[in-house]
Amino acid sequence: MKKGFIDAVVGLQWGDEGKGKNIDELLSSGIYSAVARFHGGANAGHTIKSGNLTFIGHIIPSGCLRKNIELYIGNGVVVDVVSLISEIKQLKDLGFNTAPRLYISNRAKLVSYLHPFLDQADEHRRSKGGSKIGTTSRGIGPVYSDVRARKALLIGDILLSDFEQKEAILSEFHINLLNMYKEKYGFEINLDKIKEAKDKWMEALNELKKLQICDLSFLILKRLNAGKNILAEGAQAVMLDIDFGDYPNVTSSNTLPANVCLGLGVPHTYLRDIYGVIKAYTTKVGGGTFPARIKDEALEKLFQKAGNEFGATTGRPRMCGWLDLFALRHAIGLSGVNKIFINKADICLSEKVKVVTGYKKAGKALKEFPLYLNEVSDVVTEEISGWGGDNFGVKDKKKVSKELASYLKYIKAKLADLNVKIISVGTGPDRDHFFKWDK
Ligand code: GDP
Ligand code: IMO
Ligand code: MG
Repeated sequence: MKKGFIDAVVGLQWGDEGKGKNIDELLSSGIYSAVARFHGGANAGHTIKSGNLTFIGHIIPSGCLRKNIELYIGNGVVVDVVSLISEIKQLKDLGFNTAPRLYISNRAKLVSYLHPFLDQADEHRRSKGGSKIGTTSRGIGPVYSDVRARKALLIGDILLSDFEQKEAILSEFHINLLNMYKEKYGFEINLDKIKEAKDKWMEALNELKKLQICDLSFLILKRLNAGKNILAEGAQAVMLDIDFGDYPNVTSSNTLPANVCLGLGVPHTYLRDIYGVIKAYTTKVGGGTFPARIKDEALEKLFQKAGNEFGATTGRPRMCGWLDLFALRHAIGLSGVNKIFINKADICLSEKVKVVTGYKKAGKALKEFPLYLNEVSDVVTEEISGWGGDNFGVKDKKKVSKELASYLKYIKAKLADLNVKIISVGTGPDRDHFFKWDK
């Protein structure tokens, strides 16, 4: 029997590499019938741009602007139902009716209206004793904690008769926790805001009941066995992985492609290509150490402005750094990426750029990735020509400036032993702003 396959797209840096754009780009090949989110929640912000239309999806898969593509939300996802319903509505207003092609796993987890408050409360606690993680305040940590503690509500629960009872037990537990944060750490509980959040949540739950909630693993296997191919959509990125990122300054799910199978409920034998996405430089939002950060503040601001480096979810300015090959090699090794997208090749503002090729601890070059990034005392850099010239919107490899071409060759050479292809290079935010590089 002819079987389909699953390809995956994951971020290789600290998020916001342009995954949404590349997923949308891959769909134009016509080989995929669906896009599936397998982990994370509305902490993601994936931008897709087509002409005048810009859409930022937090929870809906990035196939939403392609009318014949099915959209899957897997069991590994924590669903912010208010965001989901609002995105479906926004898309409908834009002329994209996504509800009939959206399938949500009955085993996906439900973010409750109190999880974001608990997220803020725990950040408040951290700020008292040290440093915050700088979360997106979407309740991600608290809901995944509840999943591990086997308390969280499943999407399928909303269709069962004992949902209200289960919800009441969980909410009571959450309110007790919030009171603990108030008493012990002085976290202010705003009852009006909680009431407002609950009302919105209940309203969204009523809408959620009308959507297609199903045994998604069964549906995906049926599609694969019918020869259909699926694209798995990573959120966040390898450096934010709960096990292999810079713990604790990470998100609360496994972002690595190894999690695709668990987060969708399919055997690993269906996995084929793993696409990794990077920018020509690096950005990071939130707390934690960022070894490759550009030290010249004015230059960092220039990158921030030219690259429009402001969070798609929270609007926070993203810190900007040089391309970090030490972290990238670590990320490629962990994820098994064989094809790479490089975005933002149109953004270069200095004649000379640095590239981080190593990390040092107490003056000594590290061979392995450190347990904690704050152990890094210094970075080893190489200085090369900036990838200058006007490359915005370039769609043809032959029209690229010679500096950009040599920057790409430099990166390729530095990754040569890892056997990865640079398949496409982004030169602007639009879905057709890219050129093919390796064959
Ligand atoms: P994601 O979270 O990985 O999907 O990325 P985001 O959407 O959060 O951030 C990427 C930002 O870069 C978005 O504003 C995109 O529109 C934009 N973008 C993506 N690729 C390019 C590119 O090649 N050049 C430029 N200038 N912008 C890009
Ligand atoms: P996409 O999919 C960039 C970061 C937050 C914070 C840490 C934990 O758009 O690339 P969380 O809310 O998950 O508990 O926050 O992870 N973070 C992201 N940074 N892009 C993202 O998603 C992110 N999702 C979470 O800034 O440092
Ligand atoms: Mg993003």
